[in-house]
Amino acid sequence: MFAVTATRIDAEDPLAGLGLGEHPDPSPPDGWEVVTVRAASLNYHDVWTLQGVGISADRLPIILGCDAAGVDATGREVVVHAVVGDPTAAGGDETLDPARSLLSERYDGTFAQRVTVPRRNLLPKPGVLSFEEAACLPTAYLTAYRMLFDRSGAQPGSTILVQGAGGGVATALIILGRVGGYRVWATSRSETKRERALELGADQVFPPGARLPERVDAVMETVGQATWAHSLRALRPGGRIVVCGATSGAAPPAELNRVYFLQLSVVGSTMGSRDQLGRLLTFCEQAGVRPRIDRTLPLTQAADGFAAMIAGNLFGKVVFTA
Ligand SMILES: NC(=O)c1ccc[n+]([C@@H]2O[C@H](COP(=O)([O-])OP(=O)(O)OC[C@H]3O[C@@H](n4cnc5c(N)ncnc54)[C@H](OP(=O)(O)O)[C@@H]3O)[C@@H](O)[C@H]2O)c1
Repeated sequence: MFAVTATRIDAEDPLAGLGLGEHPDPSPPDGWEVVTVRAASLNYHDVWTLQGVGISADRLPIILGCDAAGVDATGREVVVHAVVGDPTAAGGDETLDPARSLLSERYDGTFAQRVTVPRRNLLPKPGVLSFEEAACLPTAYLTAYRMLFDRSGAQPGSTILVQGAGGGVATALIILGRVGGYRVWATSRSETKRERALELGADQVFPPGARLPERVDAVMETVGQATWAHSLRALRPGGRIVVCGATSGAAPPAELNRVYFLQLSVVGSTMGSRDQLGRLLTFCEQAGVRPRIDRTLPLTQAADGFAAMIAGNLFGKVVFTA
């Protein structure tokens, strides 16, 4: 089958390790199922993998990709949950299982014509979502859902700030946050992306580091070092930063004086549980939420999608069709 793989690690030039070509078909162990992939979506995680973050060279070659929607062996249309873990190991939440992994970390991922996953990782795809839309949900939208509705402590009517509006997670935060009843403010380096964020439902937009009209209840961080100081300054006393990523660097000054004096909380968030993905699918169906897709490419042209993500030229998700 055709697949997109990480063949070697190169921290400086991630595209150098991208492999496109034939790969052996998966053979599912007991309790796992083969899914024929109809659409898969790109995440920054796939770039990190090519750079050697979260994976070691002895796992290579490995098929990239966390997210997919497709058809199972019985012909059922499914969405693939990307977290492979044991919920019983961690109080019902597989994201807290110390042995959990995401597809493409230990087991082959979704950028292929077929992928094999544990049976519990398959959820029915709502008919109102296309395969391309459904393939955006398991990582970026699930992460945004958990950040907004589980980890943030915000309530409908709260004001939240989304840093780096153009990203896959960031556009999901704007769309879901708006529909969830938050007042959503967003920053972006690009004026065009700021305008698009308004179209998506942001209430106000700002250049990075701008002084805000008032302090916010919670900040959603995916950018990291480049925006961290602003995130700390944007919060009201007692406010909370929810952080799921650090694209621009992971070690900004902690500014502990500000954290304790203003009684701020810094909360980590990663992916979401299978139950949360199920609720996200229902939320999309009931509220008419549709993921923002920047571009759709055939899997054979995956390198173009990776290049656009590395260049930061995206507004929303890159989807590959198999
Ligand atoms: N923990 C989890 O479960 C989880 C899940 C998904 C993603 N993540 C992480 O979250 C991050 C975003 O992922 P993604 O897939 O949404 O990536 P993405 O689509 O490439 O988005 C990255 C966004 O970050 C902003 N950005 C990048 N570099 C910046 C810089 N130097 N200064 C200011 N802004 C910058 C950009 O926003 P503007 O161009 O609009 O300024 C860009 O649109 C990644 O680090 C990823 O690993 C974590």
